[in-house]
Amino acid sequence: MEPPTWYVTASVTLVGMYVTAVLFRSLRTRRCNSTVLLHGKTCIVTGANTGIGLQTALELAKRHARVIMACRDQNKARKAIEYVKSRTENGSLVFRPLDLASHASVKEFCSGILEEEHSLNVLINNAGVMGHPYQLSEDGIEMHMAVNHFSVFLLTNLLLPKLKGNSPSRIVFVSSALHKRGEIDFENLKGKQTKGYANSKLANVYFARELHDRLADSKVDVFTVHPGMVDTELARHSVSNWLWKLLYPLKLLLIKTASQGCQTVVHCAISEELEGKSGGYFGSCVQEPWPDISSCKDTQLKIWKNSKEITGF
Ligand SMILES: NC(=O)c1ccc[n+]([C@@H]2O[C@H](COP(=O)([O-])OP(=O)(O)OC[C@H]3O[C@@H](n4cnc5c(N)ncnc54)[C@H](OP(=O)(O)O)[C@@H]3O)[C@@H](O)[C@H]2O)c1
Repeated sequence: MEPPTWYVTASVTLVGMYVTAVLFRSLRTRRCNSTVLLHGKTCIVTGANTGIGLQTALELAKRHARVIMACRDQNKARKAIEYVKSRTENGSLVFRPLDLASHASVKEFCSGILEEEHSLNVLINNAGVMGHPYQLSEDGIEMHMAVNHFSVFLLTNLLLPKLKGNSPSRIVFVSSALHKRGEIDFENLKGKQTKGYANSKLANVYFARELHDRLADSKVDVFTVHPGMVDTELARHSVSNWLWKLLYPLKLLLIKTASQGCQTVVHCAISEELEGKSGGYFGSCVQEPWPDISSCKDTQLKIWKNSKEITGF
């Protein structure tokens, strides 16, 4: 028995809409087109077990890098390494434990890198949390500020000697366009935040800009990326499963896959055309003007001073 005409028409329309949406999304996503090979280069990717970090690790491994997967969960890291290995035989992948909710863990991770790794060429500060329920880290800091900013400040500064020693080298901050909604309350940097994610990403952006200024005489380039809206596990604390499913048509049109979402990160980490062009803010593999809110030297200096005190760096 033949299916009714309405059924055939509806099916063809739905498939057509699906294909158009997927094509639309991939056409408006720029990919990193660098063909550079990374033999002998070591890259750290924090939060490399899933999402943007995992796809970044894959792209770097495809280009023959040694990738240090800095993750807090050994089992997740092992699965991520299997995932990358099943897609490329290039590169070498190493797991090193790192929990950004603990300064002790950050220090241990950095000691391992400084003492045991021969070289370090790229640091990608990717790991982050969003919508985390109120909780203090091991060091008594609200979780967004702890993971997304203070530990990144500590980690980056502790690894700087190695990055300087292996220059030209790069540091990439995976920030967010939501930093524009952030506010820094210097009276309450460690405590409960009203907009924890945005605030922490803004603090992080000020840090990246101040770091760039301080590295002006070096060959360590600093880049900040906003990846756009990407389909990852980032909303695990904030969006319920059924709401996420309802958003599926929107996902097809507007939200990038993690593989698409990592492209600007990879571009900033490896593209030869960016060598020596430190300090930029990037989206869709293109440099963009810094938003006004992230351009204040006084706040940069104040964030640096406070972060130094709070992390004891
Ligand atoms: N997705 C987006 O639309 C979007 C937009 C703008 C910016 N970003 C930024 O992109 C970055 C990557 O996020 P994503 O979207 O790929 O999210 P994701 O899939 O949730 O990945 C986040 C990664 O960070 C790790 N992480 C979280 N807390 C950690 C901790 N205490 N110590 C060490 N690692 C920790 C996670 O490890 P576990 O798996 O063990 O939790 C995971 O590997 C984040 O900085 C995020 O702010 C994302």
